[in-house]
Parts: sequence; C-alpha cells; structure tokens
Amino acid sequence: MQVIDAQKFKTRDATSYDTVTAQFDHFTEQLTSSLAARMISLAEIKQTDSVLDVGTGTGIVALQAVNKIGETGKIHGIDLSEGMLTAARAKAEKRELGQKVEFSQMDAEELKFEAEKFDVVVSLFALLHFPNPLTALKEIYRVTRKGGRIVIAVGSSPPLFSVTGLTHRLKIFPDVLRRSRGKQLVAPKFLDSLVERHLPETHESEESHLASHSHNRTQSVSALVEAAGFKVLQTDWQGHQAELETPEEFWEIQSTFSSISRKRLSHASSEKVELLREEFFGQCRAVQAHGGNLVYPFAAFYVVAEKRG
Ligand SMILES: C[S@@+](CC[C@H](N)C(=O)[O-])C[C@H]1O[C@@H](n2cnc3c(N)ncnc32)[C@H](O)[C@@H]1O
Repeated sequence: MQVIDAQKFKTRDATSYDTVTAQFDHFTEQLTSSLAARMISLAEIKQTDSVLDVGTGTGIVALQAVNKIGETGKIHGIDLSEGMLTAARAKAEKRELGQKVEFSQMDAEELKFEAEKFDVVVSLFALLHFPNPLTALKEIYRVTRKGGRIVIAVGSSPPLFSVTGLTHRLKIFPDVLRRSRGKQLVAPKFLDSLVERHLPETHESEESHLASHSHNRTQSVSALVEAAGFKVLQTDWQGHQAELETPEEFWEIQSTFSSISRKRLSHASSEKVELLREEFFGQCRAVQAHGGNLVYPFAAFYVVAEKRG
C-alpha cells in the first residue's frame, strides 16, 4: 500500500512504540544483541570516530558501539519516538556513559546535522519504517564524511541465489514440515493473519511501501544505498529463530515487533481485541497440546557501503 501522508505515517509509527517501549527493550536486548554486534563489527569503528545511529530505538546498537570508542569518540542516536529515546537515555545514564553518548529526537529524513559530521553511520531495523527511505539515505550520505562507512540493516529473507540462502533453506526444512502438519506457529505471520481477519478496517498504511513490497529486500536495499551515492562494499545476512515457551510471550513479541499488529491493536475496541485474543490463545494451546511449538524467526540483511572521497 502506498504511503499517502508521510508526516502522518511518521507520527503514527513513532507513537505506536511509545506504549510498548518496555516490552520492545526486553525482547530487543534478548534477541537483537548478536545482530547489533555483527553490525558494529562490520562498521569497523575506531577509537576517535564520531558515530550516528539512525532509528536507534532503545539504543541497542549505540550502547554497544560505545565500547569501541575512546575519550575523543562520540555516539549520537536519533529516533522519532520519545518513549524509545527515554528508555535509551535511562540505560546510558545507568551505565554512566556521560558525554560519550547522546540521544536526540529527530527525523531520519531531515537530519539536523552539518554535512560530513560523522565517520560512521549505522542503522538497524529502521529503514523500512521510513516512508521515503531514499530521502533518509541521501541525508545519511550528506552527514557522512568522505571516506566514511555506513552499515544499514533491514529484516529480510536471505539473498535468493546464494550459499547463505541455500544453507538457510536446508536448515529450516524440518520447520517447514512441522508447519505443514500444524505443529508450529510462526510469528509475526500468525498474529498478523488474525489481525487481518478480526480487525480488517483500516484507512491508513501500517507499513512503508518498501516494507510491504516483499520479504526479500536484499536487492532493493542495496540499490537504494547505491542510488543515494554510496559505493556498496559488502553485504551480509544473519538469521536466527527464537522459541517462545508460553502463548503469553508469543503474543507479547508479535504485538510489539509487528508494525501491522502493534498499530491496529492499539486502535481497536477492547471487545474486538478480546475476541482476537481468545482465538489466538486457543490456537496456541491446541498446537502446544499436540507437541507443537511457537517460534519467532528473525534476520538481518546488512549493506556495508562507503562514501567515496
Ligand atoms: C524496529 S525499531 C529499531 C530500533 C533499534 N534500531 C533496534 O534495532 O532495536 C525502528 C525504530 O525506528 C524509529 N523510526 C521510525 N521512523 C523514524 C524516522 N522517520 N526517523 C527516525 N526514527 C524513526 C522508530 O521510532 C523505532 O524506534
């Protein structure tokens, strides 16, 4: 679905996180840490670098990147959601990071920084939230110094014709069989499909065009990074699967991480949500009673690029 009013879309996206910040931080600390670590390793951050984290959320990447910089280095995280930024600032304060990290409310498509300010720009799981991702990437290009490096990562299935893709498909084959026998429920597809059925009426798009277009974003994201002016140096993909023990956790993770479910549930009447929950928990318990499981597969596709001098 095309995003019609970009400003409205951005406000709705940012505020949808404000009420689920604690759950988001809980799951992201548990699941996203290793993906953030891979991003930081690909970014090759040096002690004196000035680093920007775009769509920082609760600061998972920014707060890990701090370990790479010295006294003269600096990390700046930006996000539109005040709730996410409050959580990020609280974590920085608890870890006594002082002046090394700063978090600001800012639109990725309109960065309030001078040109060439940053040596490194990173962004994990944020690009698909921007209604105009190319505008954001051009802004990232403007604020990156010549010779500087960026690492942009989005959720995606692996590159189709690659060893990684083939290995992944072989690895998940037993799960595909379990699913076809009704012995596995997969997030966020499971909740999203119930939401589509119980809460179909929406006049707004929950996802950007780039997010809703395809689950394989490997080519489109690399092409956008090039279109913004960068030279792509390398790409990488990492995928994992978490198994959720209880239907309650399975509900929490999907209603937090899925943009469709998070936004639609927050606007639905309590009666409709109650009916949906009944069906959700009923199906989860039925699958578990037959020896099935509840899983959340998650993955990042990384594009590493350089601003040529
Ligand atoms: C899925 S979260 C990722 C957060 C964090 N990078 C992580 O991996 O945990 C996407 C983040 O992008 C932020 N965001 C969405 N649109 C934005 C925009 N136009 N400018 C800046 N941040 C935005 C959201 O508020 C949210 O915190």
